[in-house]
Parts: sequence; C-alpha cells; structure tokens
Amino acid sequence: MSKREQWSSKTGFILAAAGSAVGLGNIWKFPYIAGENGGAAFLFIYLICILAIGLPILNIEILLGRETQKNPVGAFKAIHGGDSNWRYVGALGVFASFTILSFYSIVGGWSVAYTLEALMGTFDSFVIKNFSPEYGMSSPKVAGEFFDLKNSNPSWVLGYHTLFFLSIIGIILSGVKGGLEKASKFLMPILLFILFALVINGLMLPDSDKGIEFLFSPDWSKINASTFLLALGHAFFTLSLGMGAMMTYGSYLSHNDDIVNASYMVAFLDTVIAILAGVAIFTVVFSSGYDPTAGPGLVFHVLPPLLAQLPGGYIFAFLFFLLLTIAAITSGISILEVSVAYLVDELKFSRKKATIIMGILVYLAAIPCALSFNLLQDATIPIQGKAFTFFDVADFLASNILLPLGGFFLAIFAGYVWGIDSTVKALLKGDSGSLYFGNSILNSSTSKTIFGLLIKYLSPVLIFLVFLYQFGWI
Ligand code: PFF
Repeated sequence: MSKREQWSSKTGFILAAAGSAVGLGNIWKFPYIAGENGGAAFLFIYLICILAIGLPILNIEILLGRETQKNPVGAFKAIHGGDSNWRYVGALGVFASFTILSFYSIVGGWSVAYTLEALMGTFDSFVIKNFSPEYGMSSPKVAGEFFDLKNSNPSWVLGYHTLFFLSIIGIILSGVKGGLEKASKFLMPILLFILFALVINGLMLPDSDKGIEFLFSPDWSKINASTFLLALGHAFFTLSLGMGAMMTYGSYLSHNDDIVNASYMVAFLDTVIAILAGVAIFTVVFSSGYDPTAGPGLVFHVLPPLLAQLPGGYIFAFLFFLLLTIAAITSGISILEVSVAYLVDELKFSRKKATIIMGILVYLAAIPCALSFNLLQDATIPIQGKAFTFFDVADFLASNILLPLGGFFLAIFAGYVWGIDSTVKALLKGDSGSLYFGNSILNSSTSKTIFGLLIKYLSPVLIFLVFLYQFGWI
C-alpha cells in the first residue's frame, strides 16, 4: 500500500486549511447575512460563536485527523472500534460534503462566469446614468434582470458549474502536496492581495465611513434568537467545521505537528478576511446610496454596476469576481477531498479512481441545484414558511442542520467519550503553548478548564437550543 501523503510544511497546511475556511462563506454569505441582520450586531454575536464554539471544535477536528491519519469515517472507527456507531457521524460528514458541494459549485460557477463577464466589460451596460428613483429603474435592477436571464438558461448554469467542477477535480487529482497544497500556496497570497486592493479602493470612496459604521457600530435591537441561530450556523460553515474537512486536512499532518497555533491562525485569517470583505463591499454599497440588506443577490446584483461606475471600475469588478472564484476553488477542493479520502482509506481506491467516481457522483447531485433557477424553479418545498428550491434546501440542510449536528457530535465525542484530559494531552503534544489565549494570559490549567467547559457544556447546549428553536419547539 502506498504511504499516506503529508503536507510538505506547516505553512502549507495553514494555507490549505485557511483556503478551505476562506470561501464563498466569507465573501458572498457573510456580508449579506450581516447586512440583513443589523451589521455590527450580527458581527458581535458571530465573533463570540467563532471564539467560544468554532475555535475549540476546529482544534478537535484537526486533532482527530492528525491522531488517526484517516478520513472522518475511518477516524471514528480507529478511535472507537470498527463497529462503533460513531462511524455514522463520519458518514454524516461524507453526506454533508455532497450536500454542500452541490450548491457551492453552482455559486462557484457564477463566480467564474462573472469574472469573464467583468473581463468582457458587460457590467458597463448595467449602469444607468442620471438615475432618479421615480424613473423606476436602477442599475442593480438591470443587473438583477441580467442575472435572472442568464440563470433561466440551464446550459449556462450547468456549463459554468462544469467548468468550476473540472478545476476542482484537476487539483484533487494532483494529490495532497502537488494539488491541494500547491494550489493553496499559489492562490491564497493572490486572494489576500486582491482583497487589500479592494479594501483600499473602498475606503477611498466618498461616504465610505457610512459603510464602516454599518459594520462596526452595533444596533442591539437587531439581536434575537434567530440572529444567534444564523451566527452559529455560519460559524460552522465559515470555519469548514462539522463535516470532516478539517479532519481530513488534519490527517495529512504528521503526529507531532502543532494544532493549537495552526487553529488560531486559521480562525484569525478567516475572520479578518470576512470582515475585510465586508469593508470592501459595504463601502461601495453605501457610497452609492444603496440598500445593504439586499440578501443573497448582494454580490451578483448590487455590486457589479456599483463597481462598474467607479473610476477604475472595470479592473475592480474583474478583481472582485476573481477573488470570489479563488476563494470558492480553495474551499471546493477541501469539500470534495472529504469524500475522496473516504474512498481511498476505506475502500482502498487509488486517488485517481476515487476522485473520478466521487467527482461524477457529486456532479450529478448538483444538477437539481443548477436547475433550481430554471427548469425546476417551481419544484419547491415549504420550510419555515418559505418556498425552498433544491438549491435552498441544500444550503439550509448543510448550514443549519448537518454542520451544527456534526459539531454537536464532535463536542460530545471529545468531551465525554474521548475525555477532555486525553483530548487536551493529545492537542498539546505538538505544541508547547496553552489552549486558550496563549501562555502569557492564562496558564495551562486555567485554559484547560475553559476549554473543557466550552466543549462539554457550552457547545452542545447552545447547538441543542438552536435546534429546538429552529424547529419551533422553544
Ligand atoms: N468554509 C467555506 C466557506 O466559508 O465558504 C465553506 C466550507 C468548506 C464549508 C468546507 C464546509 C467545508 F467542509
């Protein structure tokens, strides 16, 4: 049997894990969820969720991978025996990887399409000069119609989905070092560079301070239980937690590699990038006097004409969608890698065979999501009083159910089955530091206690309450 591949360096792992975390969740989802839920008020709750629940669970996921050197199903089997029911938690992760990628690659496809449209200068035609409200037409409305028109054509959606998907398959076929790591090392610096350029551009616009204020001065009246539900679900989604992606990436670490500091780094990069994306987007939105609560269409309807009408808008629009595409690719590979690693480890498939088989299966699973905007747009089911298409169902199922559920079981597993002592001992094996906030602030025993409380009580209880609330039981 060939030896399991490993990352070539610690930086390689951090960039790949940050590449997984930083994705559409940061650039497409975070700004519109924050926009719809009061900006800074949402940001505040979200930061608490990241720090108190996301970060400890991120440590545990990576640890389970590093200790077992296995995919999520194999990892639980390795620790708790081959016929333990815990392997179904791993299987839930493999199922979640199908669900997420089926809608994720559609948005990834839109990003590729919009990068090309930006390059062709299409967005200029969305800009209505001398706009006045009575006129009844606005630039984002024209852009929205363009988006709907394009999406009404199944072959357009499927075509770009295919292009996006093929790029992911190509990277995964090249292996851990030659594919996942190399792609992340190449793409993540470009992503950061583009983001900085967009932030600086945004900050120089007139009225940019209104965008900043929206993002940083909280309106507490906007906070309620559903804000919490959204923030928690999004914390899992944005850190790639609850479905074994970080576990799978952790399984390519060597036994002594540090996890604690790497987790801080990944969570830090992910959070900072989401906030910077918010700055880049809301400065543009506010400087043009538009509504920040535009929802999922914010990035595809509102932004293109607003960017196009700025000085140098052609280049900024292109850069923005390139950023979105890069973020989607480095996350997309980590989602598919979960299923591929499962076939390689458990069924002893070669990487090539596993990638092709899983690639085809996930590709097919994504087709109903692609058709949700055209042929299947009327095939909806009611959820929480709204009509959900296949696309909406996949998003809802993943973010609101599968990922938090995976996180719940991980917390229970580490807190009660494996035990906090063994978990912490294993975590600190590759690291001399302390779990919470580093040695300089808290000594190891205090930080271990905090970690234990968060994992054993806070995480499971909060996730459980969120479920009860979601299904209307409280
Ligand atoms: N973290 C990614 C994002 O923010 O877009 C999405 C994601 C990747 C979710 C990998 C789950 C996952 F396992």
